[in-house]
Amino acid sequence: MIYNFGAGPSVLPKEVLKKVQEELLDFEKSGMSVMEISHRSKSFQEVIDEAQSNLRDLMSIPQNYKILFLQGGASTQFSMIPMNLALGKKAYYAISGAFGKKAYDEAVKLSQTLDFEAISLGSTQSEHYNHLLKIDKSKVDEKMAAYLHITTNNTIEGTTIFPENLPEVNSVPLIADMSSNILAFDYDVSKFGLIYAGAQKNLGIAGLTIVIIREDLLNQKESLSSMMDYRILAQNGSMYNTPPTFAIYLAGLVFKWVKEQGGVKKLEAINRQKARMFYDLIDQSDFYQSPVLNEAERSICNVVFTSPSKELDALFVQKAEEKGFKSIKGHRSVGGMRASIYNAFPIEGVLELVKFMKEFEEENK
Ligand SMILES: Cc1ncc(COP(=O)(O)O)c(C=O)c1O
Repeated sequence: MIYNFGAGPSVLPKEVLKKVQEELLDFEKSGMSVMEISHRSKSFQEVIDEAQSNLRDLMSIPQNYKILFLQGGASTQFSMIPMNLALGKKAYYAISGAFGKKAYDEAVKLSQTLDFEAISLGSTQSEHYNHLLKIDKSKVDEKMAAYLHITTNNTIEGTTIFPENLPEVNSVPLIADMSSNILAFDYDVSKFGLIYAGAQKNLGIAGLTIVIIREDLLNQKESLSSMMDYRILAQNGSMYNTPPTFAIYLAGLVFKWVKEQGGVKKLEAINRQKARMFYDLIDQSDFYQSPVLNEAERSICNVVFTSPSKELDALFVQKAEEKGFKSIKGHRSVGGMRASIYNAFPIEGVLELVKFMKEFEEENK
């Protein structure tokens, strides 16, 4: 049996893959694959409308938010966000992980040619991002602030800002990179000005990026390139140009699957249960360690752990691979191991890996 612990692209629900296979050569009796039909066709319009409406239901997205299906990965949002929202203002970043740092670095780069300030509220980089930054709200100039940018789940370092710990700075819009815990976790969308996520972890496949934006934050003036302008993209129903049709179709199937599983709250409960099994073992063992300093910040999507030495980490990864536990190696910047256990990751795989971890500990302690 193969279990895919990859952090992204990641495991997809088997039911979704089977449906894709069934429909691949003949989409809704059209005699064509969904990849071959026009994005302007009635059939595809139904696909994107249904995907959008299911995502709105699943996340209880209020009507004053637009849902955009874009390209360029979450990384393109690192630039689009300041371009659209920050001009003439101050853009604040709380940096608790490598991707939060990337978002900030892109904003700094852009601020050299565009009229806005990119401000870091601090970073936990010097402690290898082993905990989340405590945000000092008094550092935010509320009058001039365009937004406060956070990453809700640090994919590489295995930390999460759980809903009860979301920062609130009065009227300053909160912007969240939710790439690695969107739909794994039940956040109240109305607390955010903008949410974005690459699809290749919990929503489907690479090539699609979801942006959920409160309407009042849409660009007022037409000054940006059209493909960079949220307002133009929203006005055109995410079809200013040819959208990533297959990735949208697939995300639509994933949204239906999430509904069939009982919705986000239900999957969150299962995800918590899956993560608990790892953390219980890590806490009981003298062999395994979690690099995350605060228990309350441990991710339920990416469980990072180490053994007593780099050599044992390497042996663990090798033996695990041989047993069919794939992509368990930690990110090169952190080392150790990382089990990414997004929505589609089956609980049996967690049970099997936990069993293997116990055996490995016995053999090597
Ligand atoms: C939290 C987070 N943000 C951003 C990214 C970058 O996403 P993309 O590769 O879609 O640009 C990733 C990728 O792993 C991520 O985990």
